[in-house]
Amino acid sequence: LKNKPIILIGSGGHASVLYDILKLNNRNILGVVNPSLLKGSTVFNELEVLGDDSTILDFKASDVELVNGLGPSTKSKKRLNISLEYASLGYSFTSVIHPQATISKNTQIEEGVQIMAGVIIQFGANIGKFCVLNTGSIIEHDCLINDHVHIGPGAVLCGSVSLSDNVYIGANAVIIQNIHVEESSIVGAGCTLIKNLGPSLTFTG
Ligand SMILES: CC(C)(COP(=O)(O)OP(=O)(O)OC[C@H]1O[C@@H](n2cnc3c(N)ncnc32)[C@H](O)[C@@H]1OP(=O)(O)O)[C@@H](O)C(=O)NCCC(=O)NCCS
Repeated sequence: LKNKPIILIGSGGHASVLYDILKLNNRNILGVVNPSLLKGSTVFNELEVLGDDSTILDFKASDVELVNGLGPSTKSKKRLNISLEYASLGYSFTSVIHPQATISKNTQIEEGVQIMAGVIIQFGANIGKFCVLNTGSIIEHDCLINDHVHIGPGAVLCGSVSLSDNVYIGANAVIIQNIHVEESSIVGAGCTLIKNLGPSLTFTG
């Protein structure tokens, strides 16, 4: 199962980081899909542009795995929608985990997660589907992270923090222990959150 070929969705900055990790993990990448590039052209010096997103449908869901290379954004739902659309069509999204991430064996990690270099995940943490744990972020013991959450580079979640679906934590943010952030809220880059945050709010200190 681990050796199914991969289609990478998107070819921007986030996709380039995932591409590097897939190479480190010796995964076979069939190519990328990107509606704004010419079919047959090349990205990252070697990957073929297979076509636009719908090109995925030319491949049977059981023959390939997908990687969502669209960058997490506070403004666009494109990444979320692509994950939901192709998952509902039966495609599976492989998890992309950098070999230099440090992950306790006592964690539960769902499908389609993307864990970048230098991430540390401690005992008892749960990471939901399609989450991105960006470079060097720290997820302390017993944190519960729901689906489609983004943790920015260098952010720190202290012990037993819980994050609902679609939460976005900016780069270098700090969330102290036992805090709960509700669905679709944003914590700005560099901010320190010391109180619970309700749904669909932006915290900038
Ligand atoms: C919080 C955030 C989403 C707000 O973006 P926005 O809605 O476009 O808001 P604006 O840039 O218009 O800023 C609104 C106000 O909040 C302030 N603000 C924005 N981000 C802030 C932050 N991180 N810390 C402190 N204040 C912040 C602005 O200075 C502005 O203040 P003003 O009204 O007094 O002028 C954004 O600034 C941010 O921090 N994004 C995370 C970026 C990141 O971590 N990227 C990682 C990529 S891997």
